[in-house]
Amino acid sequence: MEAIIRPDKDSAALLVARLIARELRANPALVLGLATGRTMEEVYRILVRMHREEGLDFSLCRTFNLDEYVGLAPEDARSYRYYMNHHLFGQVNIDQRNAHLPDGMAKDLNAECRAYEQKIKRCGGIDLQLLGIGEGGHIGFNEPLSALRSHTRVKALSPVTIGQNAVFFGGAEKVPHRALTMGVGTILECNRCLLLATGPNKAGVIAKAVEGPITSMISASALQLHPHCTVVVDEAAASKLQAAEYYRWIFKNEPEWEEFR
Ligand code: GLP
Repeated sequence: MEAIIRPDKDSAALLVARLIARELRANPALVLGLATGRTMEEVYRILVRMHREEGLDFSLCRTFNLDEYVGLAPEDARSYRYYMNHHLFGQVNIDQRNAHLPDGMAKDLNAECRAYEQKIKRCGGIDLQLLGIGEGGHIGFNEPLSALRSHTRVKALSPVTIGQNAVFFGGAEKVPHRALTMGVGTILECNRCLLLATGPNKAGVIAKAVEGPITSMISASALQLHPHCTVVVDEAAASKLQAAEYYRWIFKNEPEWEEFR
């Protein structure tokens, strides 16, 4: 794992967007794993700008989102399909048939989860998976005690997650209690992981995920097992990292980061 510390949330999002753009230019048929949440909005804004101003091409790109709420239709403004259409898919030249999310309205949710895994496999697996982190330490909706070898399945949301997302639903009691989510195992099978976390609310959980023991209580800590995982944080989210000076030294000295310094 590598931890990259940028001065503020905008420069952290810019680095993430530039990394995605670099991979997409190198491989226009990239299989890109996508994430939702407030943190990602700036990343998508930058990618949309790159599409408009620099011709960043999504026409051959295939995408797979991490998760979706059970029971929300694509036209529901609180669904992740709606979020993705609004922030990215509707503003770039992606072929909607290549933009996948699990279907939270499927009659047979377990069959939908199995089919989602099959679709990922048929595309040859995910090349680059973008990730956020919940305040409880989850990636996707892999809540505490999620098996580290799990695949796409239905998960009950924890009270912490429900509380964190209540603002979008007008109260915790209106937040769906379940979601379809890629498993920790699904995420660990991708070629590269790129996690973005910003702001002081994420400092505690980032320290646990990056420097703490691997535990299913903090599903993001399983990323320590991934052979190519980059965690990008701003100073606020980095404030509880013990080895921050070492991470800064790596950023200054590793050739991969030269073009981003
Ligand atoms: C939700 C999503 C996660 C996301 C998290 C953080 O729980 N399922 O994928 O990482 O929110 O969201 P935010 O960026 O708004 O803090």
